[in-house]
Amino acid sequence: MSMIVRRLSRAATAGLVAAAALTAAAHSAEAADTLGSAAAGQGRYFGTAVAASHLGESDYAATLDREFSSVTPENEMKWDATEPSRGSFTFTSADRIVDHAQSQGMDVRGHTLVWHSQLPSWVSPLGAQDLRTAMNAHINGLMGHYKGEIHSWDVVNEAFQDGGSGARRSSPFQDKLGDGFIEEAFRTARAADPAAKLCYNDYNTDGVNAKSNAVYDMVKDFKSRGVPIDCVGFQSHFNSNSPVPSDYRHNLQRFADLGVDVQITELDIEGSGSAQAADYTKVVEACLSVSRCTGMTVWGVTDKYSWRSGGTPLLFDGDYNEKPAYGAVLSALGGSGGPGDPGDPGDPGDGASCTATYTRTADWSSGYNGQVTITAGAEPISSWTATVTLPAQQSVSSLWNGTPTWSGNVMTVRPSWNGTLAAGASTSFGFTAAKNGSDAAPTVGTCTAS
Ligand code: G3I
Repeated sequence: MSMIVRRLSRAATAGLVAAAALTAAAHSAEAADTLGSAAAGQGRYFGTAVAASHLGESDYAATLDREFSSVTPENEMKWDATEPSRGSFTFTSADRIVDHAQSQGMDVRGHTLVWHSQLPSWVSPLGAQDLRTAMNAHINGLMGHYKGEIHSWDVVNEAFQDGGSGARRSSPFQDKLGDGFIEEAFRTARAADPAAKLCYNDYNTDGVNAKSNAVYDMVKDFKSRGVPIDCVGFQSHFNSNSPVPSDYRHNLQRFADLGVDVQITELDIEGSGSAQAADYTKVVEACLSVSRCTGMTVWGVTDKYSWRSGGTPLLFDGDYNEKPAYGAVLSALGGSGGPGDPGDPGDPGDGASCTATYTRTADWSSGYNGQVTITAGAEPISSWTATVTLPAQQSVSSLWNGTPTWSGNVMTVRPSWNGTLAAGASTSFGFTAAKNGSDAAPTVGTCTAS
């Protein structure tokens, strides 16, 4: 009963959603200085995965709301989150994301209805007929609740094996229902919400290979037989082991040529600096050069919450500063106002800069005192951040005139009271370190200012 009430109330808001989206589009025409507005200028959306648990963090929400025009719940619409026990649906966290997105005029991608992972334990033991019934009920439950509110659904996720065979992946669905489960899921999904685009989504299908060939053959077969499929999602999780393929664009185009839209659904690229920026440029340019590539989604707002946080694969660092990759994406989308450009709302500070220098101010057999001097550049600054890497053996016992956070032996220091500096002015922080057998000097890394 309560679910029916929610369904009606969600459906009743759908008109407001459309109005909000129009407002956002109108706004975007004014200034292409954010990812979402620049992508809108190219007729695309630019989205991000979102976790409901971070929406209360003001910098997270501010960056999300400013930059993105579409969201994908990172985990909150998955089977274990939405139907933890059979027939009992919980939408609290997913609703939180959808409500937030709608309040900001953002679209929502639905992720994901049928997937072998993040399945609650009650699903796997079901017999074939029961599993079929449960799968269809799950699709109907999710798509019914959000009817009219999701622009694209990942109906089936990751149903093909990696490696050279192009075979289907073993899963409760594949093992008990056979190849036909995918077709059945798409047919059920079309009936549940005829307005939603229905996508097949997978990884390691970004270039031409045995796995993408197998997906290609399935999509071709679906189109020839009238099985309802509208789009294919290319997750695009890249790193040095799995770089952006040289035939990425060609692969997107060959799927588009089958008569489906293509979407980049979970983009992240491990790395940093100009190399990471160049890879992001390749991906954006590939999408823009395929007319049926309707949008891109990065798999998270900030490096610190990425599923691959150690690889710093996203567009904003852990302090929500724009990385070079952000500027590259914005520029590839035809926008302006990337890092360093005057008036960029996400810049650490227009023209703000600083330098950091280290000196040893006291020394004794077992330890020393170090001092790092921060000097503002040609413009006044209101805050600074400096990194100091200590030799592995050494440890810091106290630090003054700064606030440290640690990652291994890297100390990131921010002001305690001394953030504001006139152009060219200096301040310093100091620390006491134990040598523990190493007399080597620490290394001072970048200084960033706002
Ligand atoms: O929320 C719980 C927390 O309460 C608990 O303390 C903690 C302990 O492990 O786990 C937390 O849940 C984790 C959840 O992410 C939220 O952070 C799960 O363990 C963890 O398994 C889950 O990982 C997600 C992963 O899918 C699961 O397969 C990632 O966030 C999510 O980014 C990732 O996304 C997938 C796509 O759905 C499909 N394509 C690949 C992509 C990356 O793996």
